[in-house]
Amino acid sequence: MSFQTEIIKWYKINKRDLPWRSTTDPYVIWLSEIILQQTRVEQGLPYFNKFLENFPTVKAFASATENEVLKLWQGLGYYSRGRNMLYTAKQVMEMHNGNFPKAYEKLIKLKGIGDYTAAAISSFSNNESKAVLDGNVFRVLSRYFRIEEPINSTNGKKIFSSLAQKLIEDHKPSVYNQAIMEFGALQCKPKSPACNICPLQFGCFALKNHKVDVLPVKLKKVKVRERWFNYFVGFKDDKILIKQRQAGDIWQQMYDFPLIETNDVAGLNDNDFTATIREMFGNDVKIKSLVQKKHILTHQIIYVHFFGLENYMINFNVHTDIKSVTLEDLATLPHPKVISDFFELYLQNKPNI
Ligand code: ADE
Ligand code: SF4
Repeated sequence: MSFQTEIIKWYKINKRDLPWRSTTDPYVIWLSEIILQQTRVEQGLPYFNKFLENFPTVKAFASATENEVLKLWQGLGYYSRGRNMLYTAKQVMEMHNGNFPKAYEKLIKLKGIGDYTAAAISSFSNNESKAVLDGNVFRVLSRYFRIEEPINSTNGKKIFSSLAQKLIEDHKPSVYNQAIMEFGALQCKPKSPACNICPLQFGCFALKNHKVDVLPVKLKKVKVRERWFNYFVGFKDDKILIKQRQAGDIWQQMYDFPLIETNDVAGLNDNDFTATIREMFGNDVKIKSLVQKKHILTHQIIYVHFFGLENYMINFNVHTDIKSVTLEDLATLPHPKVISDFFELYLQNKPNI
């Protein structure tokens, strides 16, 4: 039996029952694919359901506000992806009169839709013969067919892509693409896959040559940037200080707290730091340390330190990005995950900081 036939046979027996697999609606498939690029299936499912409930059609999506979209996206991280979705939905309204395209060549022209997403949507919705290449597929192909070229090198991408495209021919694209992704997710897992029960074990290069642990090869990424965010939590008269983040940095347009970013870890015995705090919140301000957290993003590690403020004064004419809002208002605004985690952990237990 060929590689493809084995994979498809395995899939029919082992596949998970996932809601986006029982539709050919390209809008619904698009929603699922964008969410699944950001997170695993189990975590993505509730997001998928929420999005579909709130926006059953691309038309409904396109008329949402950015805040509504970011609020639903909250917790998934990489917020530009959520923001781009709104842009894409509007493009579909303008360029395609609200009919979400199914053809690869049309999809690839939309914002936020790259090669992978266009291949996924066109094959699942329209049986177009376009092979998907995601982390799962790279892994399966490199191990089984001995592709030792890095998956993120130019040459590697060419090799993987032409092999994948050759394999999909003569097979039903919607099934084969789902099947190889599912095979990578459930059987040919990144760490210690159960090769002894794998239907492909007899032809698998990596298993035969003890290379399962070293394939696929990936070139090392650039060094991550470390940052120190000192957040100040100010409560007064049932209102809390918040700040809207600006363009040009992570979490743009979302709401966090007044922030002093430092070049290294900063403490209250650090004179420069306390001077900056006084400048911002007045000379009589009292500060206490609340909680510290490490937050890891793709290219950044952020050491987050929350401080409580008492007896503060703030000049809203100088700090125009800072506002004072009620907790009810706050709950309707989109926040980065560090902030919503903070609320869950701290505020609900201790409302009087
Ligand atoms: N990951 C990305 N796309 C997927 C899909 N359609 N089904 C399951 N997992 C996925
Ligand atoms: Fe993957 Fe192991 Fe199967 Fe090879 S034998 S395809 S490494 S699970």
